[in-house]
Amino acid sequence: MPELLSENEFLLLKHLLGKKIGVRLRDDNRESLSRKLAKRVDQLGFSGYMAYYRFVKSQKGEKELVWLINEVTIDESHFFRADKQLFWLVEELIPAMMENRRQPRRLRIWCAGCARGQEPYTLSMMMLETIRLSRAWDLKILATDVDVDSLKAARRATYPAEMLKSVPRHYLYRYFNPAAAKEAEKAYTLKAEVKQGILFRKLNLLEFPYPLKGPMDIVFCRNVMIYFQLPDKKRILEEFFRLLAPGGYLCLGSSESLLGVDERFALVGQAIYQKKD
Ligand SMILES: C[S@@+](CC[C@H](N)C(=O)[O-])C[C@H]1O[C@@H](n2cnc3c(N)ncnc32)[C@H](O)[C@@H]1O
Repeated sequence: MPELLSENEFLLLKHLLGKKIGVRLRDDNRESLSRKLAKRVDQLGFSGYMAYYRFVKSQKGEKELVWLINEVTIDESHFFRADKQLFWLVEELIPAMMENRRQPRRLRIWCAGCARGQEPYTLSMMMLETIRLSRAWDLKILATDVDVDSLKAARRATYPAEMLKSVPRHYLYRYFNPAAAKEAEKAYTLKAEVKQGILFRKLNLLEFPYPLKGPMDIVFCRNVMIYFQLPDKKRILEEFFRLLAPGGYLCLGSSESLLGVDERFALVGQAIYQKKD
């Protein structure tokens, strides 16, 4: 177990990152940040967290600051993120897909880069709210991420109230239970019905080929590829293309595009692409 950042060290880093990129670290980020930094501080040969902090703050530490920023923004996610896209999928596209599909009555969705589960759980809640699934339907969501801490949190499905600010009130009442009082701050746990049918698994999008079986009907890869170089993006899209069913859909983050990256997907909605047959 690496040494925990002291309260003061954590506050200094929190302030620095808030000022530089507007990311607001929460108190419960202290442990995971300590884990990431302990390794880094050691690798770079600093005497401790304080020496590292002074370095990233200095002009010489500019490059290192970029690394640190990536580390802290990379798992940034929230419930109901870019929800217009999700509502369109759940209210229009998925019902139409189900209408057109007589047999097999199976739907496979993959959330690649699922962070702490906010995306697959949002989808699951929206589907519970909107789609009256008969028992005859076999619907599964595969949710993967490279970060095992995020996956652990996703499986636990308990979130501090601060992380639930973007959840509409009636969803909060209907799909969450107040967590046990031993939680340090007010927290809520998702009900079993929301978790049902979601499988969390570790998968690194940069390790090819993916050990997955298709065909997938919809792949979400929102706000993940922005961190990758073009050759890696192309390779990832090869894999998505391989695993998607003919006419399957790929959903990206609202500021992401496949223009000039892969021409085998057609834009059909807000950052929604369809695999061309
Ligand atoms: C900014 S979050 C986006 C989460 C969510 N899709 C959303 O849009 O809110 C990026 C996620 O991608 C994951 N990630 C980064 N590199 C990855 C890789 N090589 N393989 C799989 N996941 C990765 C991070 O751990 C993080 O959870």
